[in-house]
Amino acid sequence: MSASNLPDAAQAAMTDAVLAANLKTQQEKGPDLRQVHAKSHGCLWGEFIVEEALPEALKVGIFSSAQTYPAWVRFSNGSEPEQRGKLKSDHEPDARGMAIKLMNVDGKKVLDDEEKTQDFIMLNHPVFFVRNVQGYIDLARAATDPEIAKSMQPTFAILKQISSKVVTNPLHIEYWSTTPYKLGSQAIKFAVHPHTETIESTVPDSENYLREAMVASLTEARQEARFDFLVQVFVDEEKTPIEDPMQEWKAEDAPYIKVATLRIPSQPFDFEERKRLDEGLSFSPWHTLPDHEPLGSVNLARKKSTRRSPKPVATPFNSASENLLLISLRRSKAEL
Ligand code: HEM
Repeated sequence: MSASNLPDAAQAAMTDAVLAANLKTQQEKGPDLRQVHAKSHGCLWGEFIVEEALPEALKVGIFSSAQTYPAWVRFSNGSEPEQRGKLKSDHEPDARGMAIKLMNVDGKKVLDDEEKTQDFIMLNHPVFFVRNVQGYIDLARAATDPEIAKSMQPTFAILKQISSKVVTNPLHIEYWSTTPYKLGSQAIKFAVHPHTETIESTVPDSENYLREAMVASLTEARQEARFDFLVQVFVDEEKTPIEDPMQEWKAEDAPYIKVATLRIPSQPFDFEERKRLDEGLSFSPWHTLPDHEPLGSVNLARKKSTRRSPKPVATPFNSASENLLLISLRRSKAEL
């Protein structure tokens, strides 16, 4: 399984260029916030319940046995802040993200900046908008170079599909990994499917209507949220390519298999202490056991760029801080 479809030196140089551009934007627009996915709709605690009767081939890594992991789940908009001190309105065209951090995970990790965690990061679309890190660079250049812009039409088409989706509650939509990952010696993509789907054509006026919708269903109406966590297994390079996250792995070629349930109980979450926890958390596909290591050029670029950028509230995630997160999670549970 390849790590990138680009030569090593090119992959490294382009990753540094993406990181530098993102850091510059972050310095300008929100040094205390994430470079992208800056706006959170909520950071929620939940349980990730691994299925009991999994096929032997899928019993790998965190899916080895029917365990229940405590989890933090963050819902976000994809963009950077609008300007310093101002996050974009939910009415702006944007992608929606979902990031899951499992806790109490045993085993040595790929990176050593966190212990006992496993992250899964997704967007609300089955494909990503660039093929590799070169595409990310070209996208930035397309604004000033018409030739590059012409070659980026497929990227613009995907961005338009993502940003024209009407989302009324982040807890009621599907999310996909878009890029592939290892599952032991196999390759997979993963996705979540909500038990409750809301498809409406109009959205409220408020510019924070997505957080408000989550407060309304999860806190006020006391409705828990549940998602099936699903995997698709690699078939062949034509139907399920590793190196082209712009190509969908179709369900008819690689059927979705349920491997776990994510349960997010009814809870209060719209308060300052939780928001501080949210800002201090760092989600990365590279916070992983080797059995679930990310694959392909886009994922490789994330190894450097999605490790938490310097922030005043950066949380070193070691045994001590992990304990704090578990205590905070238990306390939230007890408050119900
Ligand atoms: C070249 C490719 C990519 C780059 C350079 C990149 C960069 C970043 C950066 C810098 C962050 C903020 C990290 C932080 O400060 O904590 C981030 C967050 C995020 N990225 Fe990416 N990303 C890439 C690809 C992807 C892909 C393929 C997905 C699809 C699932 C994705 C989904 C997300 C999500 C959902 C978050 C928010 C995580 C959270 O809630 O903290 N990214 N990305």
